[in-house]
Amino acid sequence: MKTAILADLLDFTGDPGLADRASPHVRWRPAHWLLIDDDGRIAAVQAEAPGDDWQKIDHSGRLLMPGFIDTHVHCPQVDVIASWGTELLDWLNTYTFPAEARHADPAVAQVAADLFTDALLAHGTTAAVVFPTVHVASVEALFTAASQRGMQMVAGKVLMDRHAPDNLRDDVAGAEVDCRALIARWHGRGRNRYAVTPRFAATSTPEQLAMAGRLLADHPGVYMQTHVAENRAEVAWIAELFPQARSYLDVYAHHGLLTERAVLAHGIWLDDTDRALLHDSGAQIAFCPSSNLFLGSGLFGWQQAVAAGVHVSMASDVGGGTSLSMLRTLLDGYKVQALAGNRLTAWALLHAATRGAAQALRLGGQIGTLDVGAMADLCLWDVAVGPVAQRRDALARELHERLFAWVTLGDERNLAETWVAGVRRYRRGADPRA
Ligand code: GUN
Ligand code: ZN
Repeated sequence: MKTAILADLLDFTGDPGLADRASPHVRWRPAHWLLIDDDGRIAAVQAEAPGDDWQKIDHSGRLLMPGFIDTHVHCPQVDVIASWGTELLDWLNTYTFPAEARHADPAVAQVAADLFTDALLAHGTTAAVVFPTVHVASVEALFTAASQRGMQMVAGKVLMDRHAPDNLRDDVAGAEVDCRALIARWHGRGRNRYAVTPRFAATSTPEQLAMAGRLLADHPGVYMQTHVAENRAEVAWIAELFPQARSYLDVYAHHGLLTERAVLAHGIWLDDTDRALLHDSGAQIAFCPSSNLFLGSGLFGWQQAVAAGVHVSMASDVGGGTSLSMLRTLLDGYKVQALAGNRLTAWALLHAATRGAAQALRLGGQIGTLDVGAMADLCLWDVAVGPVAQRRDALARELHERLFAWVTLGDERNLAETWVAGVRRYRRGADPRA
């Protein structure tokens, strides 16, 4: 039987901007029914209850939003989340590379991918742009886990042929063969999309970056993901490794990696020329505030990026980031921008993690929205959990105040259910395997 859910529906019909609390692009439909078709898409939204041929689920008083989109997160790094005391380059060598090396074992990779995708759903994230590891088995495991859960997944084999331990290095020819086979096998299969994934300019030779550019040229529609301009020592190292490049970002531009389906994490240490390049290419920056604060990397300039017309989405960057919760990520984003004197609305933050990310990923109308015809990737949230949040909620006078308090005080404990393509995949308190 087809399903209909009663709840308070929130999504966006356009970009609400950064500071407008009264934006007309906020679509608030309290006490509405969301109807889900047999194919897992949104069939209708209406105030009246549907007929007897619909299975009706009453979540009155709960907030129903599109599932969050995390545009940069590392599957194997659940094992190194909350690791103490280092900046980026030391953190990679001390914690991250040893953990990723374990994923050469397909059994380890599969357990990790299952845990990771279940955890995303339990945090309210239904779509993600993900780094597995350099190993083909880790890519297979991740796409397999995402397929089993029906999730929208963008991922690809990490490319690194230098400045990494022996057990994590590939080479240009072998990596090209692996990538071509993985693209043929996974790109466009169900909701999986392939991303050519050079880890960052330091760990790929110019020859490997050129190979990555060839893969993108040969496969329109394939994504690209990498890191850029995260940490000052990293930026200085890239300048040494690529003395001819005008900037760090220019290394990627030179190799044909800046496409409209490129997702570049961080982008803290960019200049106006870089931002113009991002704008012209249509590439997006994945803003990773919790990671940037935790690793002491720096403060991303969202205002400057938006002024230059650059797409900005939100990302947890676990394990540099300290939570898979997009609510926590949004709150850290708010605080980072507050330091620069910008007060982002809850609308700006929530839009960036839903419709904004979808648009930047060229998946507008498919995810991040409650439009009819979109995939029914949905989360049901309790706006206030615990006495402090409940007291604050009771005192809120209008919707923005209420939902800003939810973003600020909430986390995965506020999540009641997660639905993916019209199927309930997470329920608070339930055994995910049951
Ligand atoms: N730069 C290169 N690799 C990584 C990574 O795994 N995490 C982060 N935050 N930055 C990186
Ligand atoms: Zn990262």
